[in-house]
Amino acid sequence: MWFLLFTVLFAPILVLFYIEVKNYSKVRQLNKLPGPPALPIIGNAHQMGKTPSALLSQLFKWWVDAGYQNYRVHVGPYRNIIVTDAKDLEYILTSKTMIDKSDVYDMLHPWLGTGLLTSTGRKWYTHRKIITPSFHFKILQNFHEVMNKNSSKFIEILRRVSEKDTIFDFQDMTHYLTMDVICDTAMGVHINAMDNHDNIVVQAFKDMCYNINMRAFHPLKHPESFARFHKSGHKKRIETRKLEAHYTNETPADEFSSKKLAFLDTLLSSTIDGRRLTQEEIYEEVSTFMFEGHDTTTSGVAFTIYLLATHPEIQQKVYAEQEQLLGDNLKGEATFQQIADMQYLDMVIKESLRLYPSVPFVARQTDKDYDISMWSS
Ligand SMILES: *[C@@H]1O[C@H](CO)[C@@H](O)[C@H](O)[C@H]1NC(C)=O
Repeated sequence: MWFLLFTVLFAPILVLFYIEVKNYSKVRQLNKLPGPPALPIIGNAHQMGKTPSALLSQLFKWWVDAGYQNYRVHVGPYRNIIVTDAKDLEYILTSKTMIDKSDVYDMLHPWLGTGLLTSTGRKWYTHRKIITPSFHFKILQNFHEVMNKNSSKFIEILRRVSEKDTIFDFQDMTHYLTMDVICDTAMGVHINAMDNHDNIVVQAFKDMCYNINMRAFHPLKHPESFARFHKSGHKKRIETRKLEAHYTNETPADEFSSKKLAFLDTLLSSTIDGRRLTQEEIYEEVSTFMFEGHDTTTSGVAFTIYLLATHPEIQQKVYAEQEQLLGDNLKGEATFQQIADMQYLDMVIKESLRLYPSVPFVARQTDKDYDISMWSS
């Protein structure tokens, strides 16, 4: 009994201590970097925000307010360097060897398996080669109608809400639009999220995004084995299974062969070393693209609208371009060509993405030593 208690209480501390000693020289090197004061063992875990937005603003606060450049943050045994210098970022992002994704991405494995976002090495390379053609500009044309129809509906909903003179969450509303579009275009499934916010797929995606953000900087929720026992981990797994059930039961097989489904078609007809992709591989890539395809567009749309709202003079210019291109059909649907001609809008969207990237951080992990500028000053 005492032995058991001792093990339960002290084993984790011993393990942490062991990791600490094993990595002593590297940790010492890391500690030369600036960063918020850290406590023994838990590091900065206690200072991490408790919600995704609090978390992000804490990381920004250290960078912008406290002025730490390329700073270190320890969350329990997880040692992170938040790289803020553009030159160092370029070094890392163009490196041919520093390509292993951080174990932050492991949290996505139960759901996304190892799709493009989470895979590395040869699997990433071969899958990337298969998938790239389905992002050819021309393929977008096939989805023009879906995007147009669903967006018209979205605008109608916005109009109704704005007449009510109540405050609403624009980004949240945008989620439902992008979910509808991605399910329709990548999977050929109509989930009609805009009319059905409680849809099981919609809820699963939302929970997933929230849980990953929070686990990334929470030492107890971080490791997969801990998360399994933790409530949010548990919930996520159930939702994942429901999502899986949705894929397998509710999607009629013949929809897969419809010519509009470029993405799924590509996956189904591709071969790697002479064999077709397994069902699991297809599942991984589809989940990945449903996740990436709607989450990034949601924040892109929401931030662009936010910037237009706070810059009325720019908004006026966007409007003038629409007037000029669409003429009498200002409230109707734009053709594919007309959208391609919206050059000013294109610039506005790109500038918004520059100011507010859709993905707040990317993470890499390495065991190798690198000699880059942050160490030399
Ligand atoms: C989205 O567009 C497609 C194609 O026009 C349509 O079948 C679907 O019902 C639309 N979904 C919503 C929620 O309007």
